[in-house]
Amino acid sequence: MAQDVNNFFEEQKDWSRRKLAIVGSYLAGFSKILGNRSFQQCVYFIDGFAGAGQYKDGSKGSPLLSAELAFRYQNEQKPYRINCINIEENEDNFQNLVSVTAPFNGLVVNYSGTFSANLDLILNQIGNCPGLFFIDPFGVKGLDWVDIMKITHRRAPTDLWIRFDHRNVRRLSGFFDSGSRGADSKFQNLQNLYGVHRPDILSQLLHGNTAEERINKALNLYVRNLEEEFIKSRNTGYSAAFPIVSLGGETKYHLVFAAAHQKAAMLASKTVYSAERNRTLERQDYLQKKSGQLFLFSPEPTEDEFFVFIVEQLRSDIVRLCAGQQLSREEVFMLLIQDNGKKWFGRFSDKHLNSALTLLESEKTPIIQSKNGPNSKDKTIFTFR
Ligand SMILES: C[S@@+](CC[C@H](N)C(=O)[O-])C[C@H]1O[C@@H](n2cnc3c(N)ncnc32)[C@H](O)[C@@H]1O
Repeated sequence: MAQDVNNFFEEQKDWSRRKLAIVGSYLAGFSKILGNRSFQQCVYFIDGFAGAGQYKDGSKGSPLLSAELAFRYQNEQKPYRINCINIEENEDNFQNLVSVTAPFNGLVVNYSGTFSANLDLILNQIGNCPGLFFIDPFGVKGLDWVDIMKITHRRAPTDLWIRFDHRNVRRLSGFFDSGSRGADSKFQNLQNLYGVHRPDILSQLLHGNTAEERINKALNLYVRNLEEEFIKSRNTGYSAAFPIVSLGGETKYHLVFAAAHQKAAMLASKTVYSAERNRTLERQDYLQKKSGQLFLFSPEPTEDEFFVFIVEQLRSDIVRLCAGQQLSREEVFMLLIQDNGKKWFGRFSDKHLNSALTLLESEKTPIIQSKNGPNSKDKTIFTFR
């Protein structure tokens, strides 16, 4: 990991681009929905581990992308504005951040120091405005549960995207009772991440017989805690994780999403789907360039075949989840992205769902017995056989 940290801003990797595409396009959707409400004219984007703003290869980092979006909205005279707040601990990165965001004076504020040390001040500054928090640390150090709780307990609309480094969690969990030098303080980082005081309890919660089981447990525990925290403070909550996979096929980390509102959960799932939809083609292109070969007979399904496959899977899950009920399209969407370890999160589009609903009403013995609007409208109520 040390090498990652030192070289991070030399060149933007494909998986970093992937992460930024998701968060950037979510910010656009989030600000459009919340900024358009007549009582809210501003939304905040809080980039808690902001970085240098720009990579040495010229690629834009999250603070520059958010500033550009805020600037575009200002120029287009949108009825709402995005205010960007960046926090960066490293002095060199901070200097760079200040210089690349200087042209966006008035739209961007940069704070030097740690996320944790600046959080109270920032929460005070954003008051009751909607806030989207992007928490993108290296590893898990500095990503403390006490801070996350301050965010989830806000009264205003509050959404989170967190980079969850499952590999780092796994590595650190090996320090429990290891007796090696510095082991306790390494494990303490994990206790801070989860907000669990007793190391033995946390170690038990993370225990698994295989590497895969341990990763799933670590991730699920975090996602569940986030969701429960929102439910405690706002009565509703949703959280899910999506793997960020490099073009080389390696799962680099997970992006964890959390929010109180179900509209936010739906937006997040759709955003991930549309940001990731070209992944298969990009991967083929990558493998081709890497091997120097042209794959004329690709084993990958075509786009149409893949579309039909997703629609059929959705269809059978809708039958299982909705039988005998009257539900709105929005409720069907939510049931799907909550089902079975949230496997549908980020994996389908509106078009897929509309087609699955059409299938369900056009069968010999239709599963959808009646409806009061078009398949594409969130408020349409369906009666399922
Ligand atoms: C992965 S980079 C962020 C990249 C950035 N989001 C982007 O996509 O352009 C993480 C950054 O967090 C900074 N950092 C590390 N610990 C921090 C902390 N406790 N508080 C704030 N920033 C921190 C690091 O110096 C580094 O610049």
